[in-house]
Amino acid sequence: MESVNEGVAENIFEKQFAKQTVFSNKDIISPHHVPAKLPFREKQIESITHNLSGVINNSKPNNFFIYGKTGTGKTSTVKHVLDQLNEFITKRQLSVYSCYVNCRSHPSKYKVLLKALRAFNPEKDFLGYSSSFVYEKLLSFAGDNNAHAIIVLDEIDKVKDVDELMYSLSRGNDELNQGSITIIGISNNLTFKEKLDPRTKSSLCEREMVFDPYNATELREILMERTELAFKEGVVKDTAISLAAAIAAQESGDARTAVMLLQRAGEIADIEEKYIVDDSLVEQAKVSVEEEIILSMISTLPQQQQLVLYAIAQLSLQNPTFTKINGEEEKGVMFSGEIFEAYLRLAKEFDARTITSRWYRQYINELEMYGLILVTNSGKGIKGQTRLIKLGFDPMKIKSALEKELFKSF
Ligand SMILES: Nc1ncnc2c1ncn2[C@@H]1O[C@H](COP(=O)(O)OP(=O)(O)OP(=O)(O)O)[C@@H](O)[C@H]1O
Ligand SMILES: [Mg+2]
Repeated sequence: MESVNEGVAENIFEKQFAKQTVFSNKDIISPHHVPAKLPFREKQIESITHNLSGVINNSKPNNFFIYGKTGTGKTSTVKHVLDQLNEFITKRQLSVYSCYVNCRSHPSKYKVLLKALRAFNPEKDFLGYSSSFVYEKLLSFAGDNNAHAIIVLDEIDKVKDVDELMYSLSRGNDELNQGSITIIGISNNLTFKEKLDPRTKSSLCEREMVFDPYNATELREILMERTELAFKEGVVKDTAISLAAAIAAQESGDARTAVMLLQRAGEIADIEEKYIVDDSLVEQAKVSVEEEIILSMISTLPQQQQLVLYAIAQLSLQNPTFTKINGEEEKGVMFSGEIFEAYLRLAKEFDARTITSRWYRQYINELEMYGLILVTNSGKGIKGQTRLIKLGFDPMKIKSALEKELFKSF
């Protein structure tokens, strides 16, 4: 007779569960993890702590602006200081409140103010109230309770009406007889400050701090600490850590890339059932991490800049060839002017407003800074002096990533 269980397949998760892995705690090697220790950021931690310490003595700190390239630890450092502050004020029962806002998900003045108000009044939901009501409520929260509120605006460059937001908050703060609102703005867009209204600039940037990229030695130490907690003992080769640090240092000095390289290398080790993370797996990881980073960078560009990049990708696919004065040919090179024209046509197709040529130059400079394009000067002779532009990555990949973004937002 047949047993009842015969023919019943084993639960599909059983096999996964029984699989070996190189990780002891995989979450720790995720780039979203905020490490308890942040080597090489001691000075920054001290300086932010010092600046915010006014709130524990009932006075208003200066607003603060933090900038630096991607992956230099800005978010982790500020979150770490806020955690410490929260621990302290809970123990002492002080009237100090903090709120972390990622402006990528809250990209307007209204959304930022609403997020802060909800954080300070968790029992109420203010959705649907007018912008001025939300603003008044936020001010009276600070004023009526003599409360010191700290609002961290991470990726502040994503706020569409940042000038209005900063103006309202600093004017509101001036009106308060007691309590205060302090803003910490964070950005990896190095040209963001230049675009601000001078009034916004002076109120946001009362104090400033730059986070420099890490060098290979620093990245190696950061990775050593993370590896010890995230991987099983002895599975990650020392040379693999050095290689990941060297790759990240060479490309950008970015700790996120470094962490992601080891995370991905570990995942490959598990999938391929190798259970040792060595140099070859880091090399393998490099290709997919690079791609992931580029695609995520593209998704954060403003729409108009995405259109400029889209124009570059489209033109690149038509195999442009540039002939130098000495007769040499270079593939994939385009004139800045023809890209601008292609951009204008695209913007029309997408029914988007268009940017001026001054803004266009600014966007090109930024795309170059992010490493997405290469810009050279033609030298005299070709259409006078003009800038030559070349895409830094596979145009097909860039184009399809952009299509996902652009068709979503238009
Ligand atoms: N000093 C450090 N020690 C340990 N880990 C770090 C350090 N600095 C950065 N990291 C790690 O690098 C990754 C990226 O850091 P973080 O998100 O703080 O960078 P960021 O400067 O905010 O970058 P972005 O501008 O892209 O937002 C995280 O996984 C973080 O844990
Ligand atoms: Mg960040």
